[in-house]
Amino acid sequence: MKKALITGITGQDGAYLAEHLLGLGYEVHGIKRRASLFNTDRIDHLYTDLHQDAARFILHYGDLTDSSNIIRLIAEIQPDEIYNLGAMSHVQVSFSEPEYAANVDAMGLLRILEAVRLAGLSQKTRIYQASTSEMYGMVQQIPQTEKTPFYPRSPYGVAKLYAYWIAVNYREAYNMFISNGILFNHESPLRGETFVTRKITRAAAHMALGLDKTLWLGNLNAKRDWGHAKDYVKAMHLMLQQDQADDFVVATNRTTTVRHFAIMAFQRLGVELRFEGQNEQETGIVVSSSNPDFVFTPEQIVIRIDPKYYRPTEVDLLIGDYAKAKEKLGWEPQVSLETLVEEMVDADLELVKRTLTLKNQGLKFYIPQQQ
Ligand code: NAP
Ligand code: GDD
Repeated sequence: MKKALITGITGQDGAYLAEHLLGLGYEVHGIKRRASLFNTDRIDHLYTDLHQDAARFILHYGDLTDSSNIIRLIAEIQPDEIYNLGAMSHVQVSFSEPEYAANVDAMGLLRILEAVRLAGLSQKTRIYQASTSEMYGMVQQIPQTEKTPFYPRSPYGVAKLYAYWIAVNYREAYNMFISNGILFNHESPLRGETFVTRKITRAAAHMALGLDKTLWLGNLNAKRDWGHAKDYVKAMHLMLQQDQADDFVVATNRTTTVRHFAIMAFQRLGVELRFEGQNEQETGIVVSSSNPDFVFTPEQIVIRIDPKYYRPTEVDLLIGDYAKAKEKLGWEPQVSLETLVEEMVDADLELVKRTLTLKNQGLKFYIPQQQ
């Protein structure tokens, strides 16, 4: 039985990857941070009682900023594969917490690589690094490939670029098996609520059932190449099954504006939207609403701009060419953007309905504000 260690197991990708690896028969170890509340919602369904002999899903407390903890865990677990998904992954937040982003996203991988060497596992343990299309930043080529020069536009992107290059350097210097997955944006119903796709689907569902009135967004013109997280974690695993370590773009080769993503999300709720105005005055307005269960009315303004969501430096356009992953890994995206949007809106609608049921039963409930 192969043993995998996943950092960031409580995140979106960690949850999908853990499920995928357990399905393949792996023993899966995950590092979770200590939090004052439970932070394992996304993986609770995978939990098995550790007192059972056959438990194959094991969580350990840890943090990528704590070398001693990383060294001890890797020496104890002796994993065949490490997937380094842990990160301060929010681009806008990285402008507020640049030093922390560098500590986790750049130095975190270095700590793992040194821990693997110290444990004498350089030739045994294969390592996946969660690199990102954010490294292309101000894109130098369209579409972006493994050969496109990088030009990061955020502290997050710069930190991830360090991790990318330290992965390449340790691969060449010590002949270690380390692969960079350069993944373009990937989403799902498990996506964090402050990333733009989930923010839109969640707010649209709240509005449909009368729990919110306005969705405040930033740059509607940004274009992203959005895929489904459950497709992308399969590519991570495939990268570590190759004869040689390498770097791969994982994308859909289709790009869409934030504005159009919003149009698609509202469409799923039977709402046709039109946009009027320029820049900060732009609004998204209901043209028509076909579902009588939802409370939208014609001419209702459902989207407005709040400049606080603008970034000091923006990544305007991402679109990835995944030809190398297709050729060498046999990987292709399976889920279309249309299906992804439907899945996310439907899941958020279910969540809102459950919240309303609790409210109607007189139970205490709380709707976190948009961020
Ligand atoms: P996510 O949902 O934000 O999950 C991040 C994970 O990292 C969470 O489990 C988080 O723990 C953990 N983490 C944060 N700080 C940590 C620390 N100091 N020590 C240990 N763990 C820490 O991100 P994701 O979307 O799953 O992305 C997974 C990885 O892929 C990240 O490295 C991200 O930068 C990268 N990536 C993502 C995308 C994308 O579109 N999703 C694209 C390219 C690359 P808590 O749950 O406790 O916060
Ligand atoms: N979050 C957010 N909130 N983004 C907004 C908003 C808003 O209210 N309004 C417009 N946007 C725009 C952002 O300016 C950006 O251009 C785009 O929507 C996507 O933003 P995010 O969903 O926050 O994702 P990201 O592209 O910045 O970063 C994600 O993808 C990277 C891969 O390219 C993250 O998952 C990163 O961790 C990942 O590396």
